Amino acid sequence: MLFLQVLITFIVPLVSAQCVPWSTPGTCTPSSSSCTFYNCLENKSNCGPTGYALGFALPFCDAITTASTSLSTNGQAWYSATKYCLQNALTTEASCQTSCQDIYTNAFASHIPCYIDSGFCTLNGHDLKIFFQIVGVNGTVSNDGLALFGAVLQQCMALYQNGDVSGGWVEWLYKTLNGDI
Ligand SMILES: *[C@@H]1O[C@H](CO)[C@@H](O)[C@H](O)[C@H]1NC(C)=O
Ligand SMILES: *[C@@H]1O[C@H](CO)[C@@H](O)[C@H](O)[C@H]1NC(C)=O
Repeated sequence: MLFLQVLITFIVPLVSAQCVPWSTPGTCTPSSSSCTFYNCLENKSNCGPTGYALGFALPFCDAITTASTSLSTNGQAWYSATKYCLQNALTTEASCQTSCQDIYTNAFASHIPCYIDSGFCTLNGHDLKIFFQIVGVNGTVSNDGLALFGAVLQQCMALYQNGDVSGGWVEWLYKTLNGDI
């Protein structure tokens, strides 16, 4: 209770005092079934074709949405949860004026927990292959994209070493990266 009071007293006014709403009207709503959140964010932030929304998120979101029908049931659950999680992580940036650099940085910070918590380290070889094909074409064009996927894989390996990810998954990963699947 005391903890909550402290939060409400200090954090809430601080956060709301800092929010300067974008001048573009409308609310950007995260959705597991659509990528237009990023068009909405772009309409507000105008970061252009090299910004996070148009340069990274939207092409990737569109590509995995197209490919998602080929994913396994587990892969589709991962994809839906991740898609929602990544958009939901940017709701503050979509409502309050934020620099393009901060949008980019905050977005990238949410990727690893969104991927991992949604079950990336449980994807089977078939799903991993589809994912890596998309990343290979569009995701690794930036060093940040490469670093991100390296970090996600590193997290899965750490979970594996803790016994939280099956050895079978690591085999899938090696086979996929070797092009054996
Ligand atoms: C973004 O702006 C364009 C042009 O004003 C508009 O057509 C489109 O519906 C907007 N998209 C979203 C998702 O807000
Ligand atoms: C890569 O991104 C572009 C947009 O930048 C998109 O048109 C294209 O379909 C994407 N390719 C794949 C294979 O996802």
